[in-house]
Amino acid sequence: MSTSTGAGGGIVVSGMRPTGRLHLGHLLGTLRDWVSLQEKFDCYFFVADWHVLTTDYERPERVSEFSAEMVMDWLAAGLDPERCVIFQQSAILEHAELALLLGMLTPVSWLERNPTYKEQREQIQGRDLSTFGFLGYPVLQAADILLYRGSKVPVGEDQVPHVELTRDIARRFNNYYGSILPEPEALLSPSPRVPGTDGRKMSKSYNNAIALDEDPASIEKRLGRMATDPRRVRLTDPGDPKDCPAFRLHQIYCTDDEIEAVTEGCKTAGIGCLDCKKIMIKHVVAELAPLRERRADLAENPERVREIVAAGTERAQAVARETMRQVRDAIGF
Ligand code: TRP
Ligand code: SF4
Repeated sequence: MSTSTGAGGGIVVSGMRPTGRLHLGHLLGTLRDWVSLQEKFDCYFFVADWHVLTTDYERPERVSEFSAEMVMDWLAAGLDPERCVIFQQSAILEHAELALLLGMLTPVSWLERNPTYKEQREQIQGRDLSTFGFLGYPVLQAADILLYRGSKVPVGEDQVPHVELTRDIARRFNNYYGSILPEPEALLSPSPRVPGTDGRKMSKSYNNAIALDEDPASIEKRLGRMATDPRRVRLTDPGDPKDCPAFRLHQIYCTDDEIEAVTEGCKTAGIGCLDCKKIMIKHVVAELAPLRERRADLAENPERVREIVAAGTERAQAVARETMRQVRDAIGF
């Protein structure tokens, strides 16, 4: 395996919590980005399974099932174990050790001020978020990143405060113990706002998501029913793509020529909504078809998937061990 891929170089670290099956929103917001990063940088992508317990410690039953499924989705989407390191957080105990040590020097006020923390405590109902673990979420995340000396952390907007906190924590560590831990920067994922079948943001909890392994007939049916500009009641009523939820998928998937034709057809009532959506749907189906095939192959070879994760874990482990050797040494253990 080629380790030093990067011209210009840099170490990319990112993780995803295994909370359920992945959908088109994950592909467009995150996975496409990861797949292209692996060509340019040394990449570490991991299953953040401990992080699930920060909010769901009462129901850990499906974490390991979701972890395996998620890695299959990653591989099907094009993550290549020859080009990146794929591993599982909970298999590398150094994450816990570094989180413990970083926690010693992290002021509680920094964590309480964290916007994601405040927001989730207000918004998430039905779960106990009054734990030490949930407050300390960003400390564990900082350990995840710093353990591999990540320089770039591809994340969505909601995670930027966590990367900022990681920088603050690294700086504080370095001030006390010497410059050991490089400060990473967030690499904002392109994350287009992917609409779900009901026009709201695509999300598992809204039941409006297109699963990565959804079959073409189902994709056609569900996207074919997607909401459009409400002014287009009859075929002869003109509309405007800017008021059409489905058109946001056209913008992601269609060629410039198609966009132009669709816009013209919509405004002049020259095209029906279903025909219009079919132009976009064929691109979605075309992108997901090969993914679905690879996904099915992987599902038949769970042993292969386990081997990939085991090999990645071994490589990550070596890096983590070396960082911790330096960290302990710096503190004086
Ligand atoms: N908190 C991230 C999320 O919910 C997941 C995550 C855990 C992560 N550790 C990380 C992301 C380290 C980037 C780097 O999306
Ligand atoms: Fe949307 Fe196309 Fe219908 Fe216009 S014609 S409202 S862009 S689906």
